[in-house]
Amino acid sequence: MKKTARAHTNIALIKYWGKRDETLFLPTNSSLSITLDQFYTDTSVEFDDVLDQDTFTLNNQPVSETERIKISRFLDKVRSFTGETRFSRVESTNHVPTAAGFASSASGFSALAAAAVKAAGAEATLEELSILARQGSGSASRSVYGGFVEWQMGEREDGLDSYAKQILPEGTFDVSVLSVEVSTEQKKILSREGMKRTVETSPFYQGWLDTVGEDLTNIKDAIINQDFTRMGEILEYNALKMHATTLGANPPFLYWQSATLKVMEAVQAMREKGLECYFTIDAGPNVKVITTPKTEKEIEKKLRSLDVVKDIYPCRVGPGISYID
Ligand code: PMV
Repeated sequence: MKKTARAHTNIALIKYWGKRDETLFLPTNSSLSITLDQFYTDTSVEFDDVLDQDTFTLNNQPVSETERIKISRFLDKVRSFTGETRFSRVESTNHVPTAAGFASSASGFSALAAAAVKAAGAEATLEELSILARQGSGSASRSVYGGFVEWQMGEREDGLDSYAKQILPEGTFDVSVLSVEVSTEQKKILSREGMKRTVETSPFYQGWLDTVGEDLTNIKDAIINQDFTRMGEILEYNALKMHATTLGANPPFLYWQSATLKVMEAVQAMREKGLECYFTIDAGPNVKVITTPKTEKEIEKKLRSLDVVKDIYPCRVGPGISYID
């Protein structure tokens, strides 16, 4: 039986930055994100006993053998969860501008986990789907839910308490996220590699660990009270702190380009003039600007006037996993 699931990508306001277990994708800190309404992945899975290996197409193209094996290893986890023994045909379509450096792994693994469990004829709770998706890409654990989502790091060695939960559903606290593209280049240091190097070598990493828990507590309070200003101040502070840890890594690295800094400066300048907006940045040079639906248009216009800005994709708070058939 072929089953199709849709999952949206997310942007972290409190970053997941570091693993305590690389095989199970267990993080060193809890994180929090907004699910985005405009970027998503649709994935169909069909288990079939005529197949002698899993097959995977992305946007109608077969992927490289390395990528296929990665997906197949992930499907092994779904097989062990559901008791399914057959191989599967997986077709995935990304409605995420991946070329622009927007991560599609979160929506990708979340949609794959959901579709594969359904295709195996099994049922899973959202917590179980979050645990499965986490083992494809950490941030995918959060894309299972819509709205504002916390991924609780958990304490167990088997990872069974490391899953996401919803803090506030979509449609409750309207925020606007402008994804500002400054570069379409593939990132040089993937998040997996960047985290590992930072955890192992950066003397600033301890400072991150010592304070990220407090950032999370404070931002949850701000979100629940729909206090936009407080949420914005904390998310920008947390993003800068994450990026600061990479400067102390050995060898050191930085995800920003000069264009990234120009956008950051523009955000701070708009704020000084009373236009409220804040920025966050993931493991790449593009910037996400968080603002309110009321000021979104004006801020977008101002950002588009910067010569370093290639494009802007406006998003709002989006939904969790859905099934298409
Ligand atoms: O799950 P990954 O491997 O895509 O790592 C995500 C890392 C950050 O985007 C930098 C932070 C986050 O929480 O999404």
